[in-house]
Amino acid sequence: MSKTIGILTAGGDSPGLNAALRGVGKALHGAYGSRIIGFRDGFRGLAENRSLQIERDTLSGILTIGGTILGTSRDKPHRMSIGGETRDMVETIVHNYKNHKLDALVCLGGGGTQKNALVLKQAGLKILTLPKTIDNDVAMTDTTMGFDTAMGIATEAIDRLHSTAHSHHRIVVVEVMGHRAGWLALGAGIAGGADAILIPELNYRIEPVVEAVKLRAKRGRNFSIVAVAEGAISQEDAALRETLELKKDTADSKLERKRAKHKLARMDTQRSNHTLRLAQQLEHFTGLESRLTILGHLQRGGTPSATDRLLATRLGTACADLISAGVHGVMVAVQGDGMRPVPLEDVAGQRKLVPSDHPWLDTARNVGTCLGN
Ligand code: F6P
Repeated sequence: MSKTIGILTAGGDSPGLNAALRGVGKALHGAYGSRIIGFRDGFRGLAENRSLQIERDTLSGILTIGGTILGTSRDKPHRMSIGGETRDMVETIVHNYKNHKLDALVCLGGGGTQKNALVLKQAGLKILTLPKTIDNDVAMTDTTMGFDTAMGIATEAIDRLHSTAHSHHRIVVVEVMGHRAGWLALGAGIAGGADAILIPELNYRIEPVVEAVKLRAKRGRNFSIVAVAEGAISQEDAALRETLELKKDTADSKLERKRAKHKLARMDTQRSNHTLRLAQQLEHFTGLESRLTILGHLQRGGTPSATDRLLATRLGTACADLISAGVHGVMVAVQGDGMRPVPLEDVAGQRKLVPSDHPWLDTARNVGTCLGN
């Protein structure tokens, strides 16, 4: 009997989402004759029952388009802001799932989506997920949709920044996305030949970066490119954060705990300025003029690369095969040459960070890139 499948995209958008929707949809329509219902704006659309029928025509021409035709949001099923109130919408979602007579729900998303999918699995939904994020930090999968495109964009930006940095004898600090994981900054930094790369997994010291820039100037290269992940943090700030975290939870007086909490919140707000502070510090200590470029959402926009289109199509069609085989409660992961279902319990709440012995770090060091430590 033909199945009815729901599908949604959740979390930050990333290039390749439409290619994956097309992959799932075409395979389900073609091989299995399924009916497909798309929900708008992530889990919010499922809670608010905003849906559209996905026909063959809906999927035509979307392979190369960035973003997601379904729209997305960062809403969580169990903590959703509705009319100014935060509400648990899991029951409503279960109701809507049943009302649409869905046989399974496919969710395309990153780390947060895997957690949300597990919540819905525990509420009884038959759910499958596909890993996407430009951060490449979803656990249990070798890679995620969107990472390759974003790395290409960030690399091209670094290439372009080289010629202007060179002409003006400047330091250019380029901020790359990635709050917790440094895959994007590291990958693009290596591919673009950045002179220093700073990532959240390796707390940095400013001194080695200053030395690296000065050494280059001494060798006649009086310009440098420093690729910094959004979440990179200095050893000093990391130590301060650790002390405050401890105080916030264990200080004797309530006032001290409150102060620590406020200081932490202030650190978080000021974090958005940390790359600017870094550029200013480098200018101060090296005597070279510095500029900051924040790549921001440019890295998530536009046409997916060929690699991401291929990956998204493979993930989408593998997902359709799993649905037809009655598999659910899993994320479709890329492992080696193949696609493998992994239980959501093994993925949710985990994050794939750059391990301190990762070969990309050796590669960077071997070409003389300063990693700030
Ligand atoms: O989706 C991942 C990501 O792009 C991170 O790299 C970045 O820190 C964050 O999303 C930005 O989120 P938003 O688009 O909600 O500002």
